[in-house]
Order: sequence, then structure tokens, then C-alpha cells
Amino acid sequence: MLATDNRLNYKNVKYFDHQAIRLLMSAIFITFEGIDGCGKSTVSKETASLLRSRGFEVYHTKEPSENWLGEAVRRSYTEEICPYTELFLFMADRATHTDKIKKELADGKIVISDRYSDSSTAYQGALLEEELAAQGIDSVDWIMKLNATIILDPDITLLLDIDPDTSLERLTIREELSKFEKKAYLEKVRTNYLRVAEAESRIRIVDAKQPVEKVLADVMALIDTKL
Ligand code: TYD
Repeated sequence: MLATDNRLNYKNVKYFDHQAIRLLMSAIFITFEGIDGCGKSTVSKETASLLRSRGFEVYHTKEPSENWLGEAVRRSYTEEICPYTELFLFMADRATHTDKIKKELADGKIVISDRYSDSSTAYQGALLEEELAAQGIDSVDWIMKLNATIILDPDITLLLDIDPDTSLERLTIREELSKFEKKAYLEKVRTNYLRVAEAESRIRIVDAKQPVEKVLADVMALIDTKL
């Protein structure tokens, strides 16, 4: 919605009533997903700038979030913790983050989140795959169901798809890769992302191996279909 557009009386809409928000305000919730090194942080920030330059009010956010819940999540990167604890730390962070997202949408802003629910499905889905399969449970399906209880469905999700060899080359400036960034793990994460993309029409796949300007152009063309 344009910053100058005051046609809609959104002050009467409670922030948690997201269906009403959608109907009254056409608020747009955009998420960016992809494996580490796919470029989503750069592309999501550039997208926010471009939309602002077109007069939209944009709230750019990310997961893990910047508060103490996100801090707890970040501590788990470098520690060996129970995979279920890891999953529920991300979920706890997301539940609170979702409240904030709803408030920003209720204020008439476009919300862009760098990572959201599909990150857990893809990453923790890979982590828990074997353990849950032994119990006859499909980890991707299970995490999608857990997410469904706490999230707001994005209007569009841009999946910046890239192979792990290329994405890891982009991460080599870092001294050490985190446990999420090992190649075999990222292969599984990518497979999970592509699987979720087949099931969810909101997810649009963008070729992230292209130069960043081309990735950004593809992303903007897809977002324009929602504005
Ligand atoms: P990342 O976007 O790389 O953040 P930063 O650039 O600030 O380090 O995310 C950090 C890592 O967290 C990334 O490897 C993916 C992982 N992650 C999950 O495993 N599950 C989740 O639900 C989320 C949101 C992130």
C-alpha cells in the first residue's frame, strides 16, 4: 500500500485479525528463502529499497530475530544441542516475530522477512529426517504442520535457488562454516525447499546463480504481480 494512501480505515482492525487486514488493506507479506550463500540478505534489502523508492512503506525484518529469542537461537548455532530443542527455539522466535509482523501489516506496511517458516521446514526437516523417519514420520510434513499453527502465510515467498557448491564458494570469506553450512546438509536443505515449493503455490523459484541485478529484476517482476 502506498504511504500516502489513507482510503482504508485500518486503525479499527485488530493486529491479530489478519484476514480482516488482508481484505481491508491488501497488506503484503513477502518472505525470502534459500540455502546459506544464496544472496537473500542482499536481495531482500535491495527489494525493500526499491519498494520504498516507489513510495511504499516497508518493514524489513529477519529470522532469527534481533531480540533475546533470536539471541537464544544464535547461541544454538555453535553448540551441540538436542535437535528438537533447536527446532523449538526457532519456533519460539517465530511465534513472537509473527505478532510483530501482524502489527506492521496492520500499520499498512509491506513486510519483507529474510527467512521465515520454510527455513525450519527445510533446515530442521533435514536435521530430523532420519530420527523421525525411524518413527514413521515425515519430517517435512511434520514441521509444516507445526509451522501452520503459529505462522501467517506469506503472500509470496521468493526461493532463491542455488546449488551448494556455488553458494559455499560465496561463503569462503568466513573462517569456519556453521553446522548449517556443510555441503551434504545444504543439499538436503535445498531438496526440502524444492519439495515445499511443489506443494505451496505461494513459493516462486528464482535462479540465484544469476548476477544479483538479474535476480533482483526477477524478484521485482514476481512481487509486482501481488501489488
Ligand atoms: P542466516 O539467514 O544465514 O542469518 P545470518 O546471515 O544472520 O547468520 O540464518 C542463520 C542460519 O539459521 C542459517 O544457516 C539457517 C538457519 N535457520 C534454521 O536452521 N532454521 C530456521 O528456522 C531459521 C529461521 C534459520
